[in-house]
Amino acid sequence: MKPSIAPSILSFSHAELRGPVREMERSGAAWLHVDVMDGQFVPPITFGDGIVKSLTGLCALPIEAHLMTLTPERQVEAFAAAGCRRFIFHAEVAPHAHRVIQAIHAAGMEAGIAINPGTSLSAVEEVEGLVELVLIMTVNPGYGGQKFISEMLPKIRTLRGRNKSVTIEVDGGIHAETIALARDAGANLFVVGSYLQEPPTIGEAFERLAAACA
Ligand code: DX5
Ligand code: ZN
Repeated sequence: MKPSIAPSILSFSHAELRGPVREMERSGAAWLHVDVMDGQFVPPITFGDGIVKSLTGLCALPIEAHLMTLTPERQVEAFAAAGCRRFIFHAEVAPHAHRVIQAIHAAGMEAGIAINPGTSLSAVEEVEGLVELVLIMTVNPGYGGQKFISEMLPKIRTLRGRNKSVTIEVDGGIHAETIALARDAGANLFVVGSYLQEPPTIGEAFERLAAACA
């Protein structure tokens, strides 16, 4: 089965996204993954709703924003207005996760909730029936190119065991070997960043990921 891939634009030159994004689309990407960092929740600062608006002009892929920010609730309307289709926020920064999910849905987007490697699955338990997606981070967020933390696999397995319908996304260190481990544990959407630049072309990277899941 072909895996659903959400390529991350993080490790590509932010000034030259047109070529890579079009190749991701041609290669069969399911979603485009945009990593939004505020310099607070994680050290780097990346981009905001403006990049989402620009990307909607470059491709027809649905865009998901992964908010690594302290106050994601402040961004919901701006991202929806920019054309974002799925808004993912971190459980660690959301004492009012239920309310944030309502706001995301009211703005017309799908809702996703993310947890860091050091955060227990219990942080999403009360709301996992309300969201379209749970994102299990398989690295500590902030940077591309880190090593997959395989200790997260039981977390994926536990979540899939108790929830058959939610999309389980994994993010961090996904490449041709780790994608099959995450898939076998129950994940069904895979963020891929730096690996897309390892094989000679983005298209070939997609092929290798698909072959690993065959
Ligand atoms: C990390 C980001 C990821 C990143 C993944 O904080 O959330 O989406 O782009 O990059 P790789 O695939 O290189 O680990
Ligand atoms: Zn991400």
